[in-house]
Amino acid sequence: MNPDILTLQKINPIIKETESSPIRDMMKRMEETPDLINLASGEANFDASPELIENAVEAMKTGRNRYTSTNGTPEIRSAIASFLDVQMGVAVNPENILLTVGGMEAIYLATRLLINPGDTVLLPDPGWGIMKPITQRLGAKVRFYPLSRKKSWHINAEPILERIDDQCKLIVINSPSNPTGATITREAYAAILEKARRHGTFILSDEVYHNYLYSGEHVSALSFDALDHVIVVNSFSKTFAVTGWRLGYVIAHPWVIRQMGVYKETISLCSYSVGQWAMAQYLPRCQPYLDDARNLCRRNMEKMVERLNAIPGVKCPVPQGGIYVFPDFSEFEPSADKLFQCLLDSGVAVVPGPFFGVQGESHARIMFAASEEIIDRGLDRMEAALNA
Ligand SMILES: Cc1ncc(COP(=O)(O)O)c(C=O)c1O
Repeated sequence: MNPDILTLQKINPIIKETESSPIRDMMKRMEETPDLINLASGEANFDASPELIENAVEAMKTGRNRYTSTNGTPEIRSAIASFLDVQMGVAVNPENILLTVGGMEAIYLATRLLINPGDTVLLPDPGWGIMKPITQRLGAKVRFYPLSRKKSWHINAEPILERIDDQCKLIVINSPSNPTGATITREAYAAILEKARRHGTFILSDEVYHNYLYSGEHVSALSFDALDHVIVVNSFSKTFAVTGWRLGYVIAHPWVIRQMGVYKETISLCSYSVGQWAMAQYLPRCQPYLDDARNLCRRNMEKMVERLNAIPGVKCPVPQGGIYVFPDFSEFEPSADKLFQCLLDSGVAVVPGPFFGVQGESHARIMFAASEEIIDRGLDRMEAALNA
């Protein structure tokens, strides 16, 4: 036998390859489609701020190319504390902050610390499809709580409260939500936190889309006195269109931060040094960029909702935040896969809804964080295909 294969046989597989996200298959089909408008990506396709890029170039030229401390430089941690104060009116101590390799590493560290095999984890449906494999691989029993759909999608307290019990270790709340743009109210968050504390349940508050808010206020889990059982995940990826920098952060109780820091030493050692230096200088000056990005996304979102709702058989709720619409195509084409292919043939890529849960059947996620010209062209193509 070929000796290479003999050696390979000694490896115990850690996952089934079929667990790979259906987005892989989609990407392959997208690569084969010329002149495609990509509204499938989970990222803004407008540019990062030139000033931020200049800061990064300067940081590289001035030797900021080495490891930083594991938790992040003192400069970036205090810049984040001030940023959160300005953006959300919350007081956070730099000791409560750990810089991570994107929000992804923050989520991995938090779930690794909290979940023991057999613990129950509550996830939203529809919700970001990646959370299920992350938590299941750690041995969690996953239960879903439904988001509710009216004119917009909402994160209601009741379905979560009903599912909290002593086995429930962790609840993931993602507001504004990927893929629905649902947000949570202050009253709902307060009720969930109160019951969660009584049952020893942690909340993982994923706030990576906090800048993209179109109605109401962003309710951060940090605005409650609850750091004993709350871990907040945030990231620069979506906020500043720098997904490739892989720079995120987590805010939690100092004990949790110390645990995560020691664990992180053996995974990534530290986060992207150049990005930390560039961001520390840029954060106090970023407001115009944040406003422009949000205003562009609001205009695109309103146009997309209006034009999609005008197509017979399409129902598009109004997202309260985030960078995606999540329309219901059940009266037009119940098969998400056929719908995906139909839109792909028209030259637009979207993500089929079932990736986001049972409630995603017959839905699709369509990203609107792009130039107005791209959104107009994408809508023209979708209208032509769906009205045909
Ligand atoms: C809800 C949500 N949380 C976290 C992330 C992680 O993003 P990143 O690792 O780029 O910060 C994503 C990315 O799509 C997301 O949609």
